[in-house]
Amino acid sequence: MSETEFDIFRARQDTPGCEQVLHFNNAGAALMPGQVVDAVTGHLRLEAEIGGYEAAESVRDAVEHVYDAASQLIGCQRDEIAVIENATRAWDMAFYSLPFKSGDRILTSISEYASNYIAFLQIAQRTGAVVEAIPNDHNGQVSIEALQRLIDEQVKLIAITHVPTNGGLVNPASEIGKIARRAKILFLLDACQSVGQIPMDVQAIGCDMLSATGRKYLRGPRGTGFLYVQRDLVERMEPPFLDLHAAKWVTKDRYEIRADARRFENWETNYAGKIGLGVAIDYALGWGLEDIWTRVSDLASTLRTRLRHIPHVQVHDLGVQKCGIVTFTIDEQDPQEIRYKLAEQKMNVSVSLAASTRLDMDQRGLAGVVRASVHYYNSEEEIERFCDFVTRMI
Ligand SMILES: Cc1ncc(COP(=O)(O)O)c(C=O)c1O
Repeated sequence: MSETEFDIFRARQDTPGCEQVLHFNNAGAALMPGQVVDAVTGHLRLEAEIGGYEAAESVRDAVEHVYDAASQLIGCQRDEIAVIENATRAWDMAFYSLPFKSGDRILTSISEYASNYIAFLQIAQRTGAVVEAIPNDHNGQVSIEALQRLIDEQVKLIAITHVPTNGGLVNPASEIGKIARRAKILFLLDACQSVGQIPMDVQAIGCDMLSATGRKYLRGPRGTGFLYVQRDLVERMEPPFLDLHAAKWVTKDRYEIRADARRFENWETNYAGKIGLGVAIDYALGWGLEDIWTRVSDLASTLRTRLRHIPHVQVHDLGVQKCGIVTFTIDEQDPQEIRYKLAEQKMNVSVSLAASTRLDMDQRGLAGVVRASVHYYNSEEEIERFCDFVTRMI
């Protein structure tokens, strides 16, 4: 989608950071629009002026709005959303609420995120459950045939990362969802890197649980995220931690866990962040997720093509459908050094190291890759400038 079809002028005008940096680190933390910054700082100011509890009370609707916004974004009900401080903890609250016993099988992807895999290993050690990575197909994404073959009575959970931390791959979430539904197996989707850049509908995907973060493609404040849990499942899941927000102490020896997804939250929270996340989601919805996706994937595809034409540059993204994340290496150069050199030019990227997605990186013999992740407010001119500088680094 070109700069005239997508109102890049307005997108950049709304984004003060565009004047400071060339920001290709949107999968790290995107630049917030001014609207989000104003909502967050406005609430912090109010807390300072009238008191934190009083401020929360006086903007109750704005705080509550985040549940409506998140549910609209992913196509669920507001009582199926818990607002949690990041995607890891959101994912954990779902995963650690599930009961596993010896011999239960957990199926995951080769490109699974380190924190998720560490949790699998901990539960495997604790309970005797077994974690197995579904092989990739020849395109480097989860093989649907292999998944189908792995299904049996012992499989209790399919937990997949939609877009991995280390590349442009988009795993075939709705194909996986179809298999999970047919086999009546719970499906937990780590949508941390896809929410905000790809249109998401939990009904169409067929996932029972989904975790997301605020600061990446949603352009929300840091320290925000959310969890979706399908309504019928909520009451069957016992959170690993409970407090007086997640449950009610009803008599001396008894508590009752609340009925909605907020049983996965806890009482003290970042109100400014919650308000900011609601504003960020509204802002994304205002642009339209279909348009965002078209613009982001087009820009990333342009960047990949340009990089591929530079001698000694290797582009590493897998999968049939690729998103806004572009990963590359330069022969004989350390990815961290590349990042430092780019940073000196006020060009932001990040580096994905093997320990973040060990199964995949080891399988491909990669120690690290430079991750350049674009968003709709990035411009074609920035891509040119970036690639010109990379060419000069050879
Ligand atoms: C695939 C994936 N899942 C989960 C996370 C963790 O998200 P958060 O830092 O919000 O906890 C990341 C962060 O990079 C990620 O890439």
